[in-house]
Amino acid sequence: MNAPAAGLAIQAPAYVKNPKIVAWVAEMAALCKPAAIHWCDGSQEEYDRLCQLLVDAGTFKKLNPAKRPGSFLACSDPSDVARVEDRTFICSAKKEDAGPTNNWADPAEMRATLAPLFDGCMAGRTMYVVPFSMGPLGSDIAHIGIELTDSAYVAVNQKLMTRMGRAVYDVLGVDGEFVPCMHTVGAPLAAGEKDSTSWPCNPKVKYIVHYPETREIWSYGSGYGGNALLGKKCLALRIASTMGRDQGWLAEHMLILGVTSPEGKKYHVGGAFPSACGKTNFSMLVPPEAGFAGWKVTTIGDDIAWVKPQADGTLRAINPEAGYFGVAPGTNTLTNPNCMASLNKDVIFTNVALTDDGDVWWEGMEKDQGKLPDHLIDWQGRDWTPQIAKETGAKAAHPNARFTVAATNNPALDPAWDDPAGVQIDAFIFGGRRSTTIPLVTEARSWTEGVYMAATMGSETTAAAFGAQGVVRRDPFAMLPFMGYNMSDYFQHWLSLGAKLQAQGATLPRIYCVNWFRKGEDGKFVWPGYGENMRVLKWMIDRIEGKAQGQDTMFGIAPQYAEINWTGLDFSAAQFNTVTSIDKAAWQEEFKLHAEHFDKLAYRLPQALLATKAALEKRLG
Ligand code: OXD
Ligand code: MN
Repeated sequence: MNAPAAGLAIQAPAYVKNPKIVAWVAEMAALCKPAAIHWCDGSQEEYDRLCQLLVDAGTFKKLNPAKRPGSFLACSDPSDVARVEDRTFICSAKKEDAGPTNNWADPAEMRATLAPLFDGCMAGRTMYVVPFSMGPLGSDIAHIGIELTDSAYVAVNQKLMTRMGRAVYDVLGVDGEFVPCMHTVGAPLAAGEKDSTSWPCNPKVKYIVHYPETREIWSYGSGYGGNALLGKKCLALRIASTMGRDQGWLAEHMLILGVTSPEGKKYHVGGAFPSACGKTNFSMLVPPEAGFAGWKVTTIGDDIAWVKPQADGTLRAINPEAGYFGVAPGTNTLTNPNCMASLNKDVIFTNVALTDDGDVWWEGMEKDQGKLPDHLIDWQGRDWTPQIAKETGAKAAHPNARFTVAATNNPALDPAWDDPAGVQIDAFIFGGRRSTTIPLVTEARSWTEGVYMAATMGSETTAAAFGAQGVVRRDPFAMLPFMGYNMSDYFQHWLSLGAKLQAQGATLPRIYCVNWFRKGEDGKFVWPGYGENMRVLKWMIDRIEGKAQGQDTMFGIAPQYAEINWTGLDFSAAQFNTVTSIDKAAWQEEFKLHAEHFDKLAYRLPQALLATKAALEKRLG
């Protein structure tokens, strides 16, 4: 192991007035033994300097400024391309507080495991002190974190993804609260040793650890976004969900969008979908031209929502993030034109392919360009041609390749996206990726039924996490990988919140269950999705406004065919039936899976959910 960097000076800038921070940085520097410490101020000059440093280290390739100004490509180690759910731990004092859906480890034992790993882990590297606010600076709904990381890639990504920099210390003052976030790529360098790789990480040892009681995050061995940008999944979901449980609010894996009618009436919707199931696309939706003139969808957030109840019984939400870390493959001007426009400049791409003229490419772009490129360098640095792809199936971009971009690049950004007061939520949408069984859209008849729909949500797995893909797993509220505490307690938290607001006389947001992904007998998606989802969104608004009667089904209230605005889309009643029908045999099987799911969660499972299941089965019967 390296010796500690001799005489390493902590040298906090004068504007850091909080002695707890300085003491913590000193303690962590003594543990991790970096060669230097850099206190990030969040300035553009600092961002440019760190990007150049990453170019010099070979981590970043600067893209052709004529094609993609201010943008870079990073390609990771092949072992470090996604979240590592089996290496993610919730170390609550009691195992039952982590619950059966989380990996639990005793906090003392985990600390003993991590201590030797963190001892000297930053040797030969710089420790970046990255202060960030999750949510508008100073908002009542926001919270602050400080990440110590030995990755410049993390520091520059945090600049795009969060409100990062000096102003955070002003909000913290001398005694403000912050969540300490420790991150290392787990690849210390011996004295004088140079990085042998452009993506340092630890291919063998990874730990993503949360201590909910003390609100700490310790991440070891990975440089990949979800494992390393600790404000996102670790703080804004796993730690924040426990804060929400204790303080009476919700931290959710949800997009937030605004939808405005031609008459200027505006609604706000929170939508929970599992990773890589279209949250970014839905949050930036462009309504179809035909039939939807004057309708507008605007983005508040694309991945995470913090929702806090107000004294008047309303629920107000903020997006704690300030940027998008989205999946690139499949994105094009047909699926998400606003996203493509957001990516024109000032983007960090990770694991996409490089074109011969210094631009980026990923699968799906051929739909815009009319053809496949003749030649690329793939995300692993190998030659790629259509012929090679045909023969070997090689993907030019990794299926979980990402872009990182500031929200302010988004042409559909909602004017209230940075409002400290947040926006009032009118509806929640829950949707998994299901080829069969789950209808296109239904509205829950009650808050409890909506919680049931969300609690039993299943989805086919995607490349966003390591592991088999396309397998249906229960992903309650799209929170399975992101829950910081016991899932059954979380269900109860939702039920209790609804009951409390109702007792105050509040009108609760409607709850909808959607499935854009149902397939026909030919194995193809039946519903066109993307911008056409506006038709479903409009039906929801009609329901809220009392303009659509719907029809009662076993699994909630569904639209009648005639209640959807079909102008400009050729979608027959028979096709509509294919995506909305309730297949009795399939649902009998589905309820068996709900039963298995509930058996797993039996400890502290709310009785109301079992009663709802019995009522739905009776309806099906
Ligand atoms: C993400 C994810 O990166 O959900 O947002 O994996
Ligand atoms: Mn996500």
